[in-house]
Amino acid sequence: MIEFSGTTFLWIKALHIISVIAWMAGLLYLPRLFVYHTDAAIGSQMSETFKVMERRLLRAIMNPAMLSSLLFGGLLLASSHTDWTEGWLHIKLLCVAGLLALHMMMAGWRRAFAEDRNAHPQKFFRYANEAPTLLMVAIVIMAVLRPF
Ligand code: HEM
Repeated sequence: MIEFSGTTFLWIKALHIISVIAWMAGLLYLPRLFVYHTDAAIGSQMSETFKVMERRLLRAIMNPAMLSSLLFGGLLLASSHTDWTEGWLHIKLLCVAGLLALHMMMAGWRRAFAEDRNAHPQKFFRYANEAPTLLMVAIVIMAVLRPF
């Protein structure tokens, strides 16, 4: 367990929240791009533009934001503040594992679009778009209210 000074701990928590806001922005926006990309004909200017937007969103925003969420979240976990017996933390980390799995799936869907072999219909991505929202709501309620 790391004993951080009060100010250091709060700085780490602030950087944690900044990181998760950027990560969530990408997790909510990328499936939305996939929804519109399913309407663009393969090889069209529109489809090629979506490929550039999706690649840049994933590589320049989502991947770094996920890594810094894990880094600062991990430092918070390693701090002496953490009580591993608290139920809210278990539920939160389970939901975070769900977000990590979604991130990896989105990376796979992005590659399928980039190689013009997407097999999922538009409706699939509309549903996929709801999953990070539901997980985010559960995570924030657990992290702030700590109901158990
Ligand atoms: C990536 C893995 C993550 C880890 C390891 C992690 C870990 C933690 C820990 C240990 C705390 C408690 C700090 C304390 O004792 O005060 C915390 C606070 C917080 N986390 Fe995370 N977290 C992660 C991801 C997320 C995500 C994805 C979200 C939002 C969608 C989030 C939102 C928050 C919020 C809002 C707080 C502050 C709660 C408060 O102080 O009232 N975290 N995080």
